[in-house]
Amino acid sequence: MHLSTPILLSLLTGVTVVSALPSTIDTVDNEEGILETYGVQSDDQIVSSIIRQLNETIGTSNNCTACLTRLSIGKALVDARPDLVAPAFSKWCIDSGHFDADSCNQEYGISTVENSKGGANFADVLSLMDPLGYDGKLYCYYRDGGNCDKPATPNATLSHLWPPKSPEHMVAPEPANNGTIRVLHVSDLHIELDYTIGGEANCTNSLCCNPHSHNKHKLNGTSPYMGYWNSFYDSYYNDDFSFVKGNEINPFNNSDVWTPAATWGNYKCDPPERLINSSLNNVIDYAKQNNFTFDFTIFTGDMVDHDVSKFISLEETIKSEESVLRDLKSRLGSTPVYPVLGNHDSYPYGQLAPEQFSFSNKFTWNTELMSDMWQEFGWLKDAQAQQARSHYTGYAVETKVGLKVISLNSNTWFRNNNYAYINASNPDNFGMFKFLIDELVASEAKNQRVWITAHIPSGSSALPLPSKMFAEIVERFSPSTIAGIFFGHTHMDQFEILYAGSGNDTKSIENVLNHAWIAPSITPWGSINPAWRFYEVDSSTFSIMNMHTFYTKLNETFISNGAEPQWQHEYSARDVYNVSWPVTSPLNATFWHLVAEQVGKSVDVRQVYENYATRFSPRTPSCATSKKCDGDFCSLTSFTVDEYDECMAALS
Ligand SMILES: *[C@@H]1O[C@H](CO)[C@@H](O)[C@H](O)[C@H]1NC(C)=O
Ligand SMILES: *[C@@H]1O[C@H](CO)[C@@H](O)[C@H](O)[C@H]1NC(C)=O
Ligand SMILES: *[C@@H]1O[C@H](CO)[C@@H](O)[C@H](O)[C@H]1NC(C)=O
Ligand SMILES: *[C@@H]1O[C@H](CO)[C@@H](O)[C@H](O)[C@H]1NC(C)=O
Ligand SMILES: *[C@@H]1O[C@H](CO)[C@@H](O)[C@H](O)[C@H]1NC(C)=O
Ligand SMILES: *[C@@H]1O[C@H](CO)[C@@H](O)[C@H](O)[C@H]1NC(C)=O
Ligand SMILES: *[C@@H]1O[C@H](CO)[C@@H](O)[C@H](O)[C@H]1NC(C)=O
Ligand SMILES: *[C@@H]1O[C@H](CO)[C@@H](O)[C@H](O)[C@H]1NC(C)=O
Ligand SMILES: *[C@@H]1O[C@H](CO)[C@@H](O)[C@H](O)[C@H]1NC(C)=O
Ligand SMILES: *[C@@H]1O[C@H](CO)[C@@H](O)[C@H](O)[C@H]1NC(C)=O
Ligand SMILES: *[C@@H]1O[C@H](CO)[C@@H](O)[C@H](O)[C@H]1NC(C)=O
Ligand SMILES: *[C@@H]1O[C@H](CO)[C@@H](O)[C@H](O)[C@H]1NC(C)=O
Repeated sequence: MHLSTPILLSLLTGVTVVSALPSTIDTVDNEEGILETYGVQSDDQIVSSIIRQLNETIGTSNNCTACLTRLSIGKALVDARPDLVAPAFSKWCIDSGHFDADSCNQEYGISTVENSKGGANFADVLSLMDPLGYDGKLYCYYRDGGNCDKPATPNATLSHLWPPKSPEHMVAPEPANNGTIRVLHVSDLHIELDYTIGGEANCTNSLCCNPHSHNKHKLNGTSPYMGYWNSFYDSYYNDDFSFVKGNEINPFNNSDVWTPAATWGNYKCDPPERLINSSLNNVIDYAKQNNFTFDFTIFTGDMVDHDVSKFISLEETIKSEESVLRDLKSRLGSTPVYPVLGNHDSYPYGQLAPEQFSFSNKFTWNTELMSDMWQEFGWLKDAQAQQARSHYTGYAVETKVGLKVISLNSNTWFRNNNYAYINASNPDNFGMFKFLIDELVASEAKNQRVWITAHIPSGSSALPLPSKMFAEIVERFSPSTIAGIFFGHTHMDQFEILYAGSGNDTKSIENVLNHAWIAPSITPWGSINPAWRFYEVDSSTFSIMNMHTFYTKLNETFISNGAEPQWQHEYSARDVYNVSWPVTSPLNATFWHLVAEQVGKSVDVRQVYENYATRFSPRTPSCATSKKCDGDFCSLTSFTVDEYDECMAALS
């Protein structure tokens, strides 16, 4: 391919860099002595030349300028040779030690069906982004090691998309207190398909408990768990849910494994399918014992495991998604499940392209696979499945009970989604907010209440502008229309509160407006105990009257001779916080504001909150002796990324 003009990189004020890429020339001074056809540089030469330029950015006085310059070099390259962006940037990244090799590969490597890498997506984004403006600075802050300061979030509004708020929409309807429905909420299942009993659970190279996980230090002697842990059975559940204990495996025999993965899981691993089945069996058993069935289920995403990119294939992504949905369907039967896609439920990891630009067809396989399954399982009706298929960022369902559930794809605001850095000062590149607003306007007009579900909380790992836009929309339609907001992603049992005039420093009982429920995970990865929850919901207003969480102490299954996990009721939200609250009032944002105030003021209450957030696990911090709980008040009272950052900055 010809590079017909010198690539001029007009960079920052007063700096004009003439790239080392020459114009088309007849002979090339080729170090390796390989001459390409008629004066065209070999790919290797172009790559070396780009790497030299990237190298030159290192050690310059200003790291932000250096990062922006690299994006400009990439943008010039992508116009001529998009295929060389991935090889040049990944080699430069590894050789210069910019990030560790795994991260370099994940960020810049060429994606294949065997390897979940984002290099092609990075190249797509370079072709459309403004490398020196907000896009570039935002990218350099979040994706390039904080090399630029966080740029000021643009002042944008979507208020032209809705009518003014009328006085009757300033308050929420009071619950009728004439009957409740029950809604199950599960999140972050992250099935580990290649979970291997006896695999290394103290690994240093990847997600643990895999055939490929290992510890970089050789074990000298025998595992400390030999003679103590005794749960190594290849157990499984039949389709009729009956339990088969399976054969015992001796993981200590001729093994150099430090910590052998036991039957039911480990805190450094995602769950084997049998743990997912056990948790869902517990859900069903609990309902049966209490003589009810769930009216519906919300599933806030993440089906694929946390392995490093080189061990995540397209095939495994598809199989994980199919297995998790199949397991949910097998247990929940005719109870509809309203799912969302999480940041792991994509390929490559975290990516989703706006439809208004090209590239979105790279992800239609996923939208189509998921919509087909949701429809086949009877969770979505034909028209809703068609909406999910065609809209790609969400769908809206009017449930049998009259509530509307709007499901969103939060990869649109995910920091690791390369495509979210294109034209990032536009408040709605994906068209998702217009979709959400149209649904809310229609519901408000008929006094229908709405729940919103998405994976990533608006106040954590989101980009600042979409986070602010979401808050603006929620403020407009709260508290009268939006009766609930539900997230997952953090794996912690949490909540986040929205105050009126978001960004307004006042966090008071006068301006508290709404809040989001953040569900605990089934996966124990990250040293937490698996948990699920359900809500008791007022059947006329769909305001939430109470929330119950259930969990199992995973470490007890290491020494239980293969017995099934014991699940137990962990807490009821109404009972554990010392807030005086009428039984007829919902657990609305005012209630959670009173809880958050206590969390802020009292170490003891903070400890109560942390115990539940982490489910009494090895991760549970001691708030009296560590600093790990210091940010709790900020995370609970920040609905947007900017509020959270400001709140944390004020602490230090
Ligand atoms: C700039 O980046 C280099 C590594 O590339 C790092 O060592 C240095 O601390 C950074 N400087 C600042 C001010 O962040
Ligand atoms: C770029 O810098 C790295 C070390 O940081 C070096 O190993 C490599 O040879 C340099 N590449 C070029 C083409 O200059
Ligand atoms: C947004 O508006 C406020 C108030 O007018 C102003 O202080 C701030 O600088 C503006 N931010 C940006 C990024 O323009
Ligand atoms: C309470 O609910 C029952 C059955 O759902 C209904 O028949 C009755 O009219 C309701 N009462 C009020 C006061 O709404
Ligand atoms: C895990 O492995 C490291 C060496 O990589 C070792 O220092 C540590 O003690 C091991 N932990 C356990 C619980 O065996
Ligand atoms: C292994 O452990 C034994 C006894 O604790 C010690 O004598 C030996 O030096 C260790 N070997 C290595 C390679 O660390
Ligand atoms: C989990 O349940 C599904 C659905 O019944 C079943 O097909 C699968 O084999 C089960 N897996 C294990 C390991 O229990
Ligand atoms: C290890 O396995 C071999 C062959 O299966 C068996 O003969 C031996 O007794 C086992 N040793 C231990 C300590 O379990
Ligand atoms: C469920 O129904 C059975 C049979 O009607 C009854 O024996 C049992 O007490 C009920 N359980 C609860 C929790 O209400
Ligand atoms: C902040 O909120 C308080 C309480 O609702 C209100 O009185 C005040 O006007 C707000 N300030 C701004 C700047 O929005
Ligand atoms: C929460 O419910 C109480 C009692 O029904 C009500 O006074 C309060 O205004 C509600 N808070 C919000 C934010 O709607
Ligand atoms: C399980 O972990 C908890 C929290 O770290 C600890 O208190 C408990 O003793 C552990 N139980 C077993 C059986 O190891």
